[in-house]
Order: sequence, then C-alpha cells, then structure tokens
Amino acid sequence: MIVDGKVTGNVEFVAALIQKTVGGDLFAIKTVQTYPGGYNQLLEATQNEQRVNARPRLATHISDLQSYDTIFLGYPIWWYDLPQPLYTFLDEYNFAGKTIIPFTVHVGSRLFSTVEKITQLEPRANVIQDGLAISRNSVARSERDVIPWLRRIGVTR
Ligand SMILES: Cc1cc2nc3c(=O)[nH]c(=O)nc-3n(C[C@H](O)[C@H](O)[C@H](O)COP(=O)(O)O)c2cc1C
Repeated sequence: MIVDGKVTGNVEFVAALIQKTVGGDLFAIKTVQTYPGGYNQLLEATQNEQRVNARPRLATHISDLQSYDTIFLGYPIWWYDLPQPLYTFLDEYNFAGKTIIPFTVHVGSRLFSTVEKITQLEPRANVIQDGLAISRNSVARSERDVIPWLRRIGVTR
C-alpha cells in the first residue's frame, strides 16, 4: 500500500484504521532476522520456516502487557496459516484473562483456521471467533468492512 507517498503494509494499514476508530496503541511484531525482499526468496524462506515449525526471534517486545485488556492481533496469512513469528509472539506472553481479536489480510484464504489455532494456543484468553478477513485487493476501501465489524463484535457503537 502507498499512503501519502509512503509504503505501508496491508495489515499495518488495517491496524491503523482500527486504532483510528477505537484508540489504543499500535505495536509491530518485528523479527530479528529480516525476511528476503525478493518475492521468490520470501516464499521459500517462509515455507521452510513453516516446515520446521520455526520460532523466529522477535526484535520487539511488549514491556507492559498487564496494562492492556484487549489486543487486536493482525497478521497476513502465510501458507494458509499464521506467519511463524506469530507463534513466537503467542508463546512469549501470557494472555490469560485478556481478549484477543484476530484480523487478517489475505488473497483468498480468508482467516483459514488461524482463529482456531490462536484459541488452542491461548485457552485462557477470550479469543473473539468473529475475526475480520480483508482481501488484499480491498484494503484501500476496507473501512466499510472494518467499522461494521467493530460494531458487530461490540467494541464500538
Ligand atoms: C510468504 C507468503 C505466503 C502467503 N500465503 C497466503 C495464503 O496461503 N493465503 C492467502 O490468502 N494469502 C497468502 N499470502 C498473501 C498475503 O496474505 C498478502 O500478501 C497480505 O496482504 C500481506 O499483508 P502485508 O502487506 O501486511 O504483509 C501470502 C503472502 C506471502 C508473502
């Protein structure tokens, strides 16, 4: 996505839209090792990571998770699944008693089974099952999906 001449990730764009509507803080899950810029290399690297169920080290950490009750968790679908760094992220924190609200940007898989996976990994969290799936082609006009969804799940009126 190009916004005001700057390149923005698709998930980042939707995250910013959610934040604009409900408030809260934005946090980017970043890995220590950056992913290859070339598309084919990226596909290969991420497929290998998935094959070995890798836990890529994270470069960013939340120091005060206790001050948050609700976490919108956004991610692209990679190979019909959560990107492996999301597994590292879910391993790292204790989300017991917190509400996790999943959303994704995809090119056809929608959420696939990622909400079920998050629910299994975080049995003591309240994982909202009605996650949001935005197609990459409609990210630029996703406000019309995001706002009704936020109302439906009860976070905004
Ligand atoms: C390595 C890789 C694997 C992907 N696998 C899928 C997939 O299985 N299903 C799907 O719908 N989209 C898939 N996509 C498309 C991403 O979901 C899509 O590019 C997303 O919009 C990226 O968001 P971002 O710009 O925030 O990274 C894949 C993309 C990449 C780079």
